[in-house]
Amino acid sequence: MDIKRRILVTGGCGFIGVNFIRLVLQDYPDWRIINLDKLTYAGNLQNLKGIEENKQYRFVHADICDAEQMEQLFAAEQIDSVVHFAAESHVDRSITGPAEFIQTNIIGTFTLLEAARKAWLEDSWQGSDPRFLHVSTDEVYGSLGATGMFRETTPFDPRSPYSASKASSDHLVSAYFHTYGLPVVITNCSNNYGPYQFPEKLIPLVFHNSMTGKPLPIYGDGKYVRDWLYVKDHCEAIVEVLKKGKDGESYNIGGNNEKQNLEVVTTICDTLDEKIGLPASGEPRKNNIIFVKDRPGHDRRYAIDASFIKEQLGWEPKFSFDKGIENTVEWYLANQEWVASVVDGSYRDYYKKMYG
Ligand SMILES: NC(=O)c1ccc[n+]([C@@H]2O[C@H](COP(=O)([O-])OP(=O)(O)OC[C@H]3O[C@@H](n4cnc5c(N)ncnc54)[C@H](O)[C@@H]3O)[C@@H](O)[C@H]2O)c1
Repeated sequence: MDIKRRILVTGGCGFIGVNFIRLVLQDYPDWRIINLDKLTYAGNLQNLKGIEENKQYRFVHADICDAEQMEQLFAAEQIDSVVHFAAESHVDRSITGPAEFIQTNIIGTFTLLEAARKAWLEDSWQGSDPRFLHVSTDEVYGSLGATGMFRETTPFDPRSPYSASKASSDHLVSAYFHTYGLPVVITNCSNNYGPYQFPEKLIPLVFHNSMTGKPLPIYGDGKYVRDWLYVKDHCEAIVEVLKKGKDGESYNIGGNNEKQNLEVVTTICDTLDEKIGLPASGEPRKNNIIFVKDRPGHDRRYAIDASFIKEQLGWEPKFSFDKGIENTVEWYLANQEWVASVVDGSYRDYYKKMYG
């Protein structure tokens, strides 16, 4: 088969990466995927179960900070596209241990940019139009009050070590466009949810705790607002930006679903009560909600104006919050073994089984 794209997907064993790889291998059989992942605690090779045999797929266990290995891989696989997900992604962990965030999110992105520059901007480059897509977050814009929305022109104002490291990598990516003419695009998206999300993040955590009768912790007064984006919508947006985005441009991607955290948790509890009945206590699951000490520097509200990507590329989210939550709850109910293996750490054995 004539291969149309050779994509280096970094962090493809994490939550969004695996959803992206599964979507591409299904919809674009003539795109080749090289999934490069360091397999940190967040990388789960089991997520790719069933596609290891696909001829258009290869897994490489490596660190994006390893410059030599990145250069070799670009050359060996004739990489013409990068979809860069690999990152330390959990805000709470960035507060207790910021060093990894600086290393992977900033130095790692720099290392990949250098590898792409060396491969694509040399006279010897023979491939088709290359593209470097950096997946970033709306957290780079800081916090909003009760009104207003983040636009692509909103100045950066990151508040946590996580968002500061992502803002820094966004600036580097942008600088490689302006300085060297590297063909880059950036996407800044809101909070994702859906299948394969590590159960330290709000939605899978609430699912897991609800199923095991544990308390459901909510920071502060529960009135923090986030926009929620179903991961399949996000992955479809990334494909559109990869195919049709304009070099040097940033695109905000949102779900048009602004919700308070309390509402999110209540919706999951109600959906579970409806689907599998009340727990043995006979009490609705939402009665287990508890309010815990707030996260330091907690941003009050994020909201994304995603009109630019709609105007320019014709993309808009398809999933309402209720539909997305219903799908997500159904996926977690059908994949409780997956949740259990992540919670007890046995998901790590899969690597040994596959690669020794
Ligand atoms: N999850 C969200 O809601 C959200 C929202 C906005 C933006 N993002 C961004 O999207 C991207 C993916 O997020 P996610 O939720 O899938 O993250 P995740 O934490 O689930 O997965 C990250 C993956 O990157 C890998 N990785 C980490 N360090 C690495 C390194 N040095 N070299 C190679 N691989 C490494 C991990 O092993 C893991 O597989 C991140 O860049 C994140 O900042 C996520």
